[in-house]
Amino acid sequence: MKKFTSVSDIEDLPSLLAEALRNKKQPFADKAKGANKTLGLIFMNPSLRTRLSTQKAALNLGMNVIVMNIDKEGWALEFQDGCVMNGSTVEHIREAAGVMGQYCDLLGLRSFPGLVNRDEDYHEEILNKFIRFCGVPVISMESATLHPLQSFADLITIEENKTKKHPKVVLAWAPHVRSLPQAVPNSFSEWMCRAQKEIGLDFVIAQPEGLELNPEFTRGAGITHNLDEALRGADFVYVKNWSSYKNYGQFHADGQDWMIDNRKLKLTSNARVMHCLPVRRDVELAAEVLDGPNSLVLQQAANRVVSAQTVLKKILEAL
Ligand code: CP
Repeated sequence: MKKFTSVSDIEDLPSLLAEALRNKKQPFADKAKGANKTLGLIFMNPSLRTRLSTQKAALNLGMNVIVMNIDKEGWALEFQDGCVMNGSTVEHIREAAGVMGQYCDLLGLRSFPGLVNRDEDYHEEILNKFIRFCGVPVISMESATLHPLQSFADLITIEENKTKKHPKVVLAWAPHVRSLPQAVPNSFSEWMCRAQKEIGLDFVIAQPEGLELNPEFTRGAGITHNLDEALRGADFVYVKNWSSYKNYGQFHADGQDWMIDNRKLKLTSNARVMHCLPVRRDVELAAEVLDGPNSLVLQQAANRVVSAQTVLKKILEAL
């Protein structure tokens, strides 16, 4: 593997999933693979899970890790090519990424979308420039449109908890108090659409009208505006808010009846409930569900180490 920015960087999904489950059983078996290699984790936005789990994964592989919150600790970056830098930006991405590539053998980048200009966000301008100028393999730690380390951890969690060969997996839109990116649902959807074909499951997305995701990521999914109908027979419910793709970045204020609580859970086939976290209790997801026996949120977070370690190992093997 030369980079990891989406599910399309994976050739053989069932094999990678099997490898992840093996890595989970023996987390320190590959401690020599990362010796004398340095991973740089560059954050343009906040994080708890991604930062800690990716760092832990690298340490399990014997790597050195450098973490930089570049939005707070670095110079103000310029991304536009050809501009005369006589304004507030101090350093161009060409030099900044190039320098980081001199210090690190691998780099991880977190860069959220602006949610203003859809073309700019969906062209992944920041991630692609970073890849272009740093000169070393890059893993996405959540970009403007995708969060593949999260989706891989989600797939591992489903595999560990499924009780039938073809479980029904529902991605259910949830209410929120502000506009959120589409990266987690886009990514979960493209991973589930691929798992539908290569591993075996039935995938359905339920969202209010107007909140359909970019069809590029949902090809093959069942799509409905009826949450109760989607929940019937569900084995896994993945709860997540996202803002509109069509009216780009627009906040959907009417959706309080979309919050999953124990009453809605009764419609399912005793579904296990997932959320990538952070979650707003009793806004996106009822506290009674988060604290109840069906919640998988902590296991998902734990599996972030497994997904990161499996990906880092694959990239180290290809260096
Ligand atoms: N799920 C996730 O990526 O969490 P953080 O934003 O805390 O890293």
